[in-house]
Amino acid sequence: MNFQLWRSNNREIRFGIMGSPLKSLVHDDDRYQRSFHLFLERSSEHQCMRDFIHSKLPDILSSIGDGKSHLNVIGVGSGAGEIDLEMLNELHKKHPGVTVDNEVVEPSSQQLHNYKVLVSQKPELNYIKFTWNKMTASEFEERWKLSETTKKADFIHMIQMLYYVKDPGATISFFQSLLDKNGKLLIILVSGESGWGKLWRKYRHELCNTEISQCVTTGDIKSLLDSKGVSYHSFDLPSQMDITECFTEGDEKGELLLDFLTEVLDFNKTASPELKDGVLELLRHPDCSMESEGRVIFNNNLGVIVIDKPN
Ligand SMILES: C[S@@+](CC[C@H](N)C(=O)[O-])C[C@H]1O[C@@H](n2cnc3c(N)ncnc32)[C@H](O)[C@@H]1O
Repeated sequence: MNFQLWRSNNREIRFGIMGSPLKSLVHDDDRYQRSFHLFLERSSEHQCMRDFIHSKLPDILSSIGDGKSHLNVIGVGSGAGEIDLEMLNELHKKHPGVTVDNEVVEPSSQQLHNYKVLVSQKPELNYIKFTWNKMTASEFEERWKLSETTKKADFIHMIQMLYYVKDPGATISFFQSLLDKNGKLLIILVSGESGWGKLWRKYRHELCNTEISQCVTTGDIKSLLDSKGVSYHSFDLPSQMDITECFTEGDEKGELLLDFLTEVLDFNKTASPELKDGVLELLRHPDCSMESEGRVIFNNNLGVIVIDKPN
């Protein structure tokens, strides 16, 4: 998949009522974080990640570090750190006695604050040195290059964040280049076969402002890696999201969830009636959701991609 191509094709196509442009949810961090929080409450997103972390991640982590007594970890788009800490715990179990330098790259001050609070409640994490980078992945990349450091990383993860960079392919290449011998880069995104994938295949031009957010799935990343001859391992994480409230007109939580699903700020108020009707119809269509006991359950399946250090 050619991300550059998407950008030039999609520019200027997101229009709402009266021809005004639709604004990306990313522009309002407070509403973004509230909608993400509600999404976590209504979905099995973090549970399916935890299942993966406890069942599959230990084997993936066992070979990193090449026997070193100190490991470097970079978390990109860590949010409030709940999932990062679960992974660091598995890392500690696999490599007891090893100290860890953990670079956290997160542009939201609210999320970074929540992450720091979580860490302050866990004195047992004293084997980890946290470095807080309140910045985007590209700002981190720029700073890293300017510093001309030769430091390498043993484990880098980007969980549900590649949507928010301009060029996911270039971001992956940069972070992959930081891997030390036996290092691993772990990416989690929605699966191409999820409801998200179906929604974006139909409404990519209307919903994705590719200057700031990409409608990218693990299917797209796999095609990109295949085209570059980069090898990887992948895993499927089945997950669901209850979107029933989206179909009750005027329901505040439903509107917040709709913003998260469309990545559009105030989608319900600003999208044209045709776009709103089309999106709502597709969201409850069997391609995206199933109906069970009066609830509309959206397919939120995720995918994991694990990449090694380049040869
Ligand atoms: C969907 S949340 C995922 C958070 C966490 N990884 C999780 O799975 O719970 C996306 C995160 O990426 C962060 N983010 C947004 N744009 C970013 C960028 N350009 N670089 C790095 N992180 C970014 C957001 O602030 C947010 O915390």
